[in-house]
Formats: sequence, C-alpha cells, structure tokens
Amino acid sequence: MEKKELIYEGKGKKLFATGDSALLIAEFKDDLTAFNAQKKSQEKGKGALNAAISAKLFELLERNGVATHLIKRLDETDHLIKKTRIIPIEVVVRNIATGSLTKRLGIAEGTKLPFTLVEFYYKNDDLGDPLLNDEHALLMNLANEKELTALKRLARKINDILLPFFESVRLKLVDFKVEFGRDEKGAILLADEISPDSCRFWDALSGEKLDKDRFRQDLGGVKVAYEEVLKRVQEALR
Ligand code: TMP
Ligand code: ASP
Repeated sequence: MEKKELIYEGKGKKLFATGDSALLIAEFKDDLTAFNAQKKSQEKGKGALNAAISAKLFELLERNGVATHLIKRLDETDHLIKKTRIIPIEVVVRNIATGSLTKRLGIAEGTKLPFTLVEFYYKNDDLGDPLLNDEHALLMNLANEKELTALKRLARKINDILLPFFESVRLKLVDFKVEFGRDEKGAILLADEISPDSCRFWDALSGEKLDKDRFRQDLGGVKVAYEEVLKRVQEALR
C-alpha cells in the first residue's frame, strides 16, 4: 500500500493517506511526551515496539469480538488502518488506583478498586484533556447517549479480555486509555493504539513499572521496559 501525503501528526503517531480513500497508514513515532507535551524526549525504536505490541493486542481483541480499525501491520512502525472519525473522548479504564485518580480523590496508591472504573476525558490538548461526565459529553455533542453506553461497554469488554491476558504473562494491567472512531456507517471501532504509552503495566512479582511512567517519573530504562512488554506479549501470542 502506497504511503501518500501526511494528513495528521499527533504526539505519538503520524497519519498518511493511501491510494484508497477508506484506508490510512499510521506511523508510530519514537517521540515520548508526558504532561500534555510539557515533557518531551525521543527513544529510538520506541515507535516500532509500540507498533508491534499494539498490533498483537488489536488482533487479540478482534479475535474476541471487538471491532478495531486495524487491517494489518505493514512494517516495523506502520499500521494499515480503516479511516474513522475519532470520537474526541479518551476512555480510561482503571483496575488499580494510581496516577490522576489518587491525586484527584485521595485514594491510596495501589488500592485494588472494588469494581473496574471507566472514566471519560475530553480529548483536547488546549484544555489539558479534562475529566468529563456523561452530561458534559452530551452537552458538547461529543457523542450521543447510545454511543456513550457503547463506549463504556466496549471499554469493559476490552478490559475483560486484556486483564486475564496480561495476568497470564505476569503483568498487572493497572489502567489504560483507549480511543474509538466512527466508520462511514457510524459503527464504532477501536482506534489509536494500546501500548506501554497508553497503559500502566506493573510486573506481577516485583511491582516494577513497565510503561510510560518510567519516562514520566524519570525512572530510566524506558526502552528495556517496552521490550519486556513486547517479549511477554509475544510469549503468549505467537
Ligand atoms: P492518569 O492516571 O494520568 O489519568 O492516566 C490513566 C491512564 O491513561 C494511564 O494508563 C495512562 C493513560 N493516559 C494516556 O494514554 N494518555 C494521556 O494523555 C493520559 C493523561 C493518560
Ligand atoms: N499523552 C500525554 C502527553 O503526551 C500525557 C501523558 O501520557 O502523560 O503529553
């Protein structure tokens, strides 16, 4: 598939047109950003690691009945994807309290939540991706009521598939963020990526962080951690 003009560049990926107006190529970048890009760096090979991890996870989800935008991984860094209109809601799923949840509500770090929490954030860099409730999302026309229900159901379904999967490779899926898009018929597809940039993974035995918190918190060893996640994902999904 021919890579044509750049049509969008985000913090983690570039999107290119292809010869088919229904398809795009997503190129995973080596850039690392945190805190709404106030902190920036680069890690050579990070894009390829995320492209590999995310492709495997999208394939796993697709096999388990979650419709995704992924057609196939084309090479090290590139995914061929269906074009969608991204719903500007970041859907965060939490199993264990950490990050902004502990900061906002004072829940102790590491607390196992009594049930899986699904939250919506408004995908808007200028506003710093603020937390949204359903009425905010409806008020702003980000999605309709049926779609909000679908987003929550899909987020829980993804968690129900990924939680035991990661447990089988000795990783705790602490929390993660997913994004969805609408195809030309209005069907909702899982879009964007699922990678150590968008999830928190803690080693089940040592508790070691194997995700972007290594960058956010200056822990070092970012690439080694992402390589370890890929190794474990491949261990389970050959
Ligand atoms: P938070 O605790 O900082 O709100 O993050 C929750 C989850 O969402 C965590 O797995 C990291 C992920 N995340 C993103 O993928 N992008 C973002 O912009 C933020 C803030 C979090
Ligand atoms: N993704 C956001 C950024 O790149 C925030 C984060 O992941 O911490 O700035």
